[in-house]
Amino acid sequence: MDAHIVLLPGDGIGPEIVSQARRVLETVAEKFGHSFHLSEHLIGGCAIDACGDPLPADTVDACRSSQAILLGAVGGPKWDDPSADTRPEAGLLRIRQELGLFANLRPIRTFDELVDASPLKRDIVAGTDILFFRELTGGIYFGESGRRDSPDGQTAWNEMVYSTKEVERIVRLAAQAAQQRRGHLTSVDKANVLEVSRLWRQVAERIVRDEFPDVQYDVVLVDAMAMHLISRPKDFDVVVTGNMFGDILTDEASMLPGSLGLLPSASLGEDGPGLYEPIHGSAPDLAGQNAANPLATILATAMLLRHSLNLSQEADAVEQAVETVLKAGHRTRDIAAGGDSISTTAMGDAVLAALA
Ligand code: IPM
Ligand code: MG
Repeated sequence: MDAHIVLLPGDGIGPEIVSQARRVLETVAEKFGHSFHLSEHLIGGCAIDACGDPLPADTVDACRSSQAILLGAVGGPKWDDPSADTRPEAGLLRIRQELGLFANLRPIRTFDELVDASPLKRDIVAGTDILFFRELTGGIYFGESGRRDSPDGQTAWNEMVYSTKEVERIVRLAAQAAQQRRGHLTSVDKANVLEVSRLWRQVAERIVRDEFPDVQYDVVLVDAMAMHLISRPKDFDVVVTGNMFGDILTDEASMLPGSLGLLPSASLGEDGPGLYEPIHGSAPDLAGQNAANPLATILATAMLLRHSLNLSQEADAVEQAVETVLKAGHRTRDIAAGGDSISTTAMGDAVLAALA
């Protein structure tokens, strides 16, 4: 196979973890006889520094003409000034929107070897296997917003908006995934308070009832979900929710496997390239120390191979290699539970050795 893949290392630990993922892609290409054409482009804070724009036009063009995109992370204290014209995160939000990446898949799976790295008890988390579908191009992230002067200073507002079509397409994808898994779909909303959630709930119920009668379906309010996620995570299979609820719940869920450093994600549209990234951020305090965990990005690479390039055998091989290094006891600092840890590059070496 001949494939064009865009790498967007971004800020903080982004370049360090993406360079390990690049080695994995190169090794997969060599081992399985593919040609991957890899090109790197700017996004986020580094793009603001280079050209004043967190998403330069040539980055968008390169992404549009690629088959898949692998992103590290964006953001950092350097660009945090609330009065600045733009922010690194704006680049990420815009690329999601420009490419129509409305479905964000975030698998939360515990690794047996690491169950004790979770702050939660083994009997609660062991065996957890949840696939989140977070809506990614709508909701409060993309509604109208503004500020106006008010007697006490200023008033700021953000609108939370969903249309029927936006709910239908994400619920359909989630229900299809449930059919391929354990057949159980949970939709999360705040329909006891928000009108937008009441529409979400009506549409979701209709889609599942009419099109997926074989899927076991339930709805949970977002506040209750925050609780159930840490008290009975094994009860969930596929979870579908809006943009902001999904952002918050998946960070919470990341503590089930023990570390954000292990969790990949895929953002997909109706067609065109998918974008793959770790769910963790740019970790500025770790940047430049060769200490970050590259496994989430390497697992995101496996998702890229599977979902955008249809290379499931190659994806399995990468996931298997990650499992092998964890079984062998290799740990970066975030998952070492205070014990011995290895560097980012040493973890990359271990994965390459397991792949070969
Ligand atoms: C995520 C991140 C982003 C989001 C930020 C960096 C804009 O938290 O991908 O979960 O809120 O979507
Ligand atoms: Mg987030």
